[in-house]
Amino acid sequence: MAHAEVIPILDFGSQYAQLICRRVREQGVYSELMRPDTPASKLRAMNVRGVILSGGPASVYDAGAPMCDPAIFELDVPVLGICYGMQLASKVMGGEVRPAAHREYGRAQLHIHADDPLVHGLPQDTTVWMSHGDQVVALPDDFVPLATTPTCPYAAVRHRTRSFFGVQFHPEVTHTPRGSQLFKNFVYDICKCRGEWTMKGFVDEQVEKIQKQVGSGRVICGLSGGVDSAVAAALIQKAIGKQLTCVFVDNGLLRKHERDLVESTFRDHFHIDLRVVDASAAFLGDLVGVTDPQEKRKRIGHRFIDVFKQTVREQLETGGSSGDASSDRVRFLAQGTLYPDVIESGHGHAGTAANIKLHHNVGGLPAELGFELVEPLRELFKDEVRKVGEVLGLPEEIVWRHPFPGPGLAVRVMGEVTPERLRVLRDADEIVLEELIANDLYRKTSQVFAVLLPVGTVGVMGDGRSYDSVIAVRAVESQDFMTADWSRLPYEVLARMSSRIVNEVRGVSRVVYDISSKPPATIEWE
Ligand code: XMP
Repeated sequence: MAHAEVIPILDFGSQYAQLICRRVREQGVYSELMRPDTPASKLRAMNVRGVILSGGPASVYDAGAPMCDPAIFELDVPVLGICYGMQLASKVMGGEVRPAAHREYGRAQLHIHADDPLVHGLPQDTTVWMSHGDQVVALPDDFVPLATTPTCPYAAVRHRTRSFFGVQFHPEVTHTPRGSQLFKNFVYDICKCRGEWTMKGFVDEQVEKIQKQVGSGRVICGLSGGVDSAVAAALIQKAIGKQLTCVFVDNGLLRKHERDLVESTFRDHFHIDLRVVDASAAFLGDLVGVTDPQEKRKRIGHRFIDVFKQTVREQLETGGSSGDASSDRVRFLAQGTLYPDVIESGHGHAGTAANIKLHHNVGGLPAELGFELVEPLRELFKDEVRKVGEVLGLPEEIVWRHPFPGPGLAVRVMGEVTPERLRVLRDADEIVLEELIANDLYRKTSQVFAVLLPVGTVGVMGDGRSYDSVIAVRAVESQDFMTADWSRLPYEVLARMSSRIVNEVRGVSRVVYDISSKPPATIEWE
């Protein structure tokens, strides 16, 4: 989509490239990651307002080190080089880059000694985050130093006459507490943007785009209960109303009240044509006797595709129940694909950042189904999707929902999945969530749930000995779910969860708390 104001990031493989992109967007200007060697002519054709060169793991003197088109420094727009981006620009313009005496990783004290729009509003002395091996040791003739750290003489620089700026530190990470001021300066004072990228504007643009793509065709959207598919559905509904049909598959592996929430939100509140397919018997049948986690995932994934296909065939292609326009074949499939998925699957750019794709997404549908995809959230990060959800009036329980895995409770019942074991887990999980919400901790945590362990444990209940199950409580905080730390939930809250679970859930005599971070553990237990 063409954006009035765009500042792309040329990605040299930085682990922080997505963060740079988010920081620019937080300033109200659209940004996206592009290949490091994107030709200047392409950027000119996009009418970019500025360009940012990201950091990266290479050394500018490495054979095969990623290079930018030198002509981007001749474009008549400001360029900001961060870390490797600054080193590369310095080399191109005649400076010298060398390995620093010590690889610098961590916080450093920045001292600003020159007045310049890039550093306006920053305190003269401030903390910044460094992560580099090389640094610029001799500035090109036309460069002016703006700031130093004790080990880095050129921590921020600018070109004397051209609009090039460079920083050796990382303003995009939270460890540089005043970093957003620097982006604000670059975006507004230097690139002269107006800040027109808003989620309200995004919704209006997408509504038009969806209408154009779909025409009078029919769209089907699988709802998972999660925020992405919910926001995609609400957005498409706004664009094409009754041409949208949503399908929610009850696989028998949902949390308590999950199905009710989806039904009340989409059918009662949004008046979406929602088909709920109860396929729990088939899913649970597939899982009889299965204990291997990957095998569980595989069977659930296959069954999901079968059920979805069959639903489309039976309910929609033959006219279904909604009446209007139903004789048309459904040609479009809506999905809540997000920008990080697009980047990770390699379509976004040729960045070299380590690609750690941990899970085959069980909710996914194969391309052979023959649908044309409608993916209105492809440009967005998760926090932006939540904002779109708010603009569209989705309830808080959906917008701020913790993630839930496609294979559902099957990967939280360790060992065999049976209706009785699911009952135990569901009841315990409900208590965990109730206590979390009652203590105002839901929004402060990233993902919290109960796990049923495959061991018996001795207890005393009343006067007798019991031999019952163990529930583990898992609570984590995470930015991107690639790494996570266990939540320091208050002892009183844990105590209450534990006593309520043991007292209220038949079949549980012990509760333990998981204090593992990721890595080396994962968030889910299977
Ligand atoms: P782990 O357990 O790998 O999980 O730390 C990271 C995030 O991914 C979710 N997850 C899944 N999501 N299908 C999904 O759709 C899966 O098979 C799956 N396994 C884990 C997990 O809940 C966490 O948010």
